[in-house]
Amino acid sequence: MNKSFAQLARHAEQNKASIAVPKDPLETPPLEIHTLGNEVLRQTARRVTKVDNSIRELIKDMLRSMYSAKGIGLAAPQVGVNKQVLVIDLDIENPTTPPLVLINPEITGSSASLETYEEGCLSIPGVYLDVIRPSSIKISFRDEMGRPKKMNADGLTSRCIQHEMDHLNGVLFVDRVTSQEDLNRELIEHGFHKEDVQSIH
Ligand code: NI
Repeated sequence: MNKSFAQLARHAEQNKASIAVPKDPLETPPLEIHTLGNEVLRQTARRVTKVDNSIRELIKDMLRSMYSAKGIGLAAPQVGVNKQVLVIDLDIENPTTPPLVLINPEITGSSASLETYEEGCLSIPGVYLDVIRPSSIKISFRDEMGRPKKMNADGLTSRCIQHEMDHLNGVLFVDRVTSQEDLNRELIEHGFHKEDVQSIH
């Protein structure tokens, strides 16, 4: 079949359709981000069976809420939605960098080498603590158009993807903190409760 140039151009445009939204903060973000102690954060998220407009609307609302909170990653369970959807943007000050959207992400490989890095979370505001994770990972996922994708990630991207993917399993970064002394101090200082941590050590 022969396609006109206009058709081809339109097709190319659809293929790189991005879901980017303005990055400036909103006074009233569309979604509320739940904090440590709320049970929604402990649920296991369900796979998305169809990537349709309602999922894309959710993604846009998640992005606007994330940018409004000055975060670099947000998982659907944090806004009370039990679906395997993540948004990440490591370049929030640059309005033209597109965000990374991961639907039904799976880790297909991770490096033996580990890295310690200080993490924070929009669901545990003010708390920053060291967490040890694999330095690099391989993942497969679907993008916002439902297209299957694969990706290798290292550095902050790898770190952020692993942190957000934990949210899909009801795991929070504080569960992975090894220094209980630092954990206790930070939680108390920011008004959170140790009983809400489900330590995996
Ligand atoms: Ni988080």
